[in-house]
Amino acid sequence: MLKSKIIGTGSFLPVHSMDNTFLSTIVETSDEWITERTGIRSRHIAAEETTVSMGTAAARNALEMAALSPDKIDFILAATFTPDYIMPNTACLIQAELGASNAFCFDINAACSGFLYALQTADAYIHSGMCKNVLVIGTEAISRAVDWTDRSTCILFGDGAGAAVLSASADDSGFIDFLSGSDGSRGSVLELKNRAIANPYHPAEADTLSYLKMNGQEVFKFAVRKIPEMVLTLTGRNGLTPKDINHYLLHQANVRIIQAAAKRLELPEARFPMNLSSCGNTSAASIPILLDECNRNGCLHRGDRLILSGFGGGLTWGSALLRW
Ligand code: COA
Repeated sequence: MLKSKIIGTGSFLPVHSMDNTFLSTIVETSDEWITERTGIRSRHIAAEETTVSMGTAAARNALEMAALSPDKIDFILAATFTPDYIMPNTACLIQAELGASNAFCFDINAACSGFLYALQTADAYIHSGMCKNVLVIGTEAISRAVDWTDRSTCILFGDGAGAAVLSASADDSGFIDFLSGSDGSRGSVLELKNRAIANPYHPAEADTLSYLKMNGQEVFKFAVRKIPEMVLTLTGRNGLTPKDINHYLLHQANVRIIQAAAKRLELPEARFPMNLSSCGNTSAASIPILLDECNRNGCLHRGDRLILSGFGGGLTWGSALLRW
């Protein structure tokens, strides 16, 4: 049976880094409040960069590590809820930049779970034999979607991109199991509405583009419950316990969410690498950026077991269990 594995990772962060002190000149907040409640100290904000340019840069790094030329990629999957265009999709635009002319391309929008959903989709295509090499990208320019007068949201998010190349595995490394779920009935907890309806059969609505809105406490409670639940399900059904996992790469939303997950699972925080202090919440890009950092700084070793876990708007959630 064909199994997929990650053979290259890459990431990209915008040049501008905005710290909490700078933010406190824009909205009524303080470095102390943000650091204490979220663990975030600074975040990268796209100025010249776009969702496509960041995704392309991350993809190039991942392809270089995988030692694959773009024409060897047969599927490009971009996870984002902040595409530059509604059409063409982000994956097609990145394909054009890379010259990956043999690939078919589409996007996945599952907010902060997007990269996990994309990994699972890529794995399924490889598993079925339909694809050999898949480029999975998480890329976000959330700074365009937040209301910079709303201190309860603008402090949380950052921009950036991460990518992974998946290929059929010839050994015992690679993806072992996935888990994903959604609860659309709770979508209003975290939402970003868009265009007003205007057609001959419908009275024109005011054409105001809306910004990201969030019920922070509800999202917090959901995440703190969902992560341990996913970990226990994934490990349990694979004959493992949480202690058998070497590294937990969780969506980087809030240090308190990650600490609560570690506590519930009775695990040391050292098993939960983090970069949210300098990146903030980059939604679909957060897990691949962290994965690339861990991969490049040598903290992942052959044979290690990893769980990647995301949660977010939709509501959506997803996890992957893999052997490095
Ligand atoms: N600076 C200073 N004060 C702020 C503030 C800011 N940036 N944002 C909110 N406040 C104030 C509120 O107005 C409120 O004031 P009040 O008590 O006078 O009404 C007070 O701080 C407490 O607000 P609350 O919303 O209860 O804070 P909290 O402890 O829940 O922390 C979050 C807020 C957003 C940090 C927290 O709920 C959270 O991280 N939630 C999860 C969000 C998330 O991860 N979303 C993405 C998921 S993919």
